[in-house]
Amino acid sequence: KRRSSQEIKEAQDVELSELKDPQKDSDRVKKGKEEWLITIGICTHLGCVPIGGAGEYKGWFCPCHGSVYDTSARIRKGPAPKNLAVPPYEFISKNKIKIG
Ligand code: FES
Repeated sequence: KRRSSQEIKEAQDVELSELKDPQKDSDRVKKGKEEWLITIGICTHLGCVPIGGAGEYKGWFCPCHGSVYDTSARIRKGPAPKNLAVPPYEFISKNKIKIG
């Protein structure tokens, strides 16, 4: 997901104590490339596909059982135990990202 400056700020401003699976936004993106959040779109509850740009935190919402993720794809509400996974990836040129 290419994030707006507002979405990045919202992700960075969250206190880790508010999070079920505490992780800084800066640990989920590459330094200097904060606009790009690379994540696996599989809900960590039972594997449904969350809807982007939805839910209380405008990150992802999983309609299967109501898990809500923020703009860093961190779990904020609902039964999912973990943040959406960030796979290994690298920027290999200005317009290409290699995932895996
Ligand atoms: Fe997403 Fe259950 S599979 S909330």
